[in-house]
Amino acid sequence: METAAPIPASQCEPVPQPEGKKVKLWINDRLVEAPQGMNLLEICRSQGIDIPSLCYLPGIHEAGICRVCLVEVEANGRRALQASCVYPATEGIKVYTHSPRARRARKRVVELLLTEHKGECPACVRNLTCELQRLAGEMGIRRVRATGERRRYPVANKNPFIIRDYNKCIRCRRCETVCREIQGVGVLGPRNRGFDLVIGPPFGRDLGEVDCISCGQCVMVCPTGALAERVLPGEEPITACCIRE
Ligand code: SF4
Ligand code: SF4
Ligand code: FES
Repeated sequence: METAAPIPASQCEPVPQPEGKKVKLWINDRLVEAPQGMNLLEICRSQGIDIPSLCYLPGIHEAGICRVCLVEVEANGRRALQASCVYPATEGIKVYTHSPRARRARKRVVELLLTEHKGECPACVRNLTCELQRLAGEMGIRRVRATGERRRYPVANKNPFIIRDYNKCIRCRRCETVCREIQGVGVLGPRNRGFDLVIGPPFGRDLGEVDCISCGQCVMVCPTGALAERVLPGEEPITACCIRE
């Protein structure tokens, strides 16, 4: 048995787009033609322009939650920051992917995510494979400037196969979407609001207390160590997703 490596969103294949009406837009002062409605992130990646993303899973979870993919868009005479993973290609708009404002905003977003994060990277099961850690490294974030209240939840570990640490969760909701849309189970969802928002089983239950089938899909798509396989010393991980031919 072998643990399947998570797929960073930025390495996912672009989603095939249906043939239809094309629009012309400007990306970094270059005229580009793209299917109307295709999101800017996919268009930019198809042009070889790398924009970071975190919550985005092509064709599966396109919710515009994390804001790590911000770019500047000029439309109708106004220039504003927009989440490229949910902004549709529109005739005549101008997109600036690496303007100082866009890069600064993306870095701030990652810094803010880190202010709430547990931050025990060397001891985390996702050390060196964590998408948040990788982005912070790529953006040159060496310290978290803001200090404030941090979430301190007990680690949920009643499921025999999966451990859930809410203190590492960035609330991207990928797990909720795959559990509901791909696995058809739907035992994860939002609870509470604002700072207290958590994505998990209803009524504060543990994964071991609901109808979770321990498929491991949520672990596979989690960008951080918030969801992890329970691996005891000397044992192999045993969620269904870990088993490969
Ligand atoms: S292990 Fe599978 S069924 Fe259980 S919460 Fe995760 S995705 Fe849903
Ligand atoms: S547990 Fe992981 S996948 Fe689910 S919302 Fe938190 S960070 Fe995202
Ligand atoms: S990747 Fe676009 S909002 Fe998260």
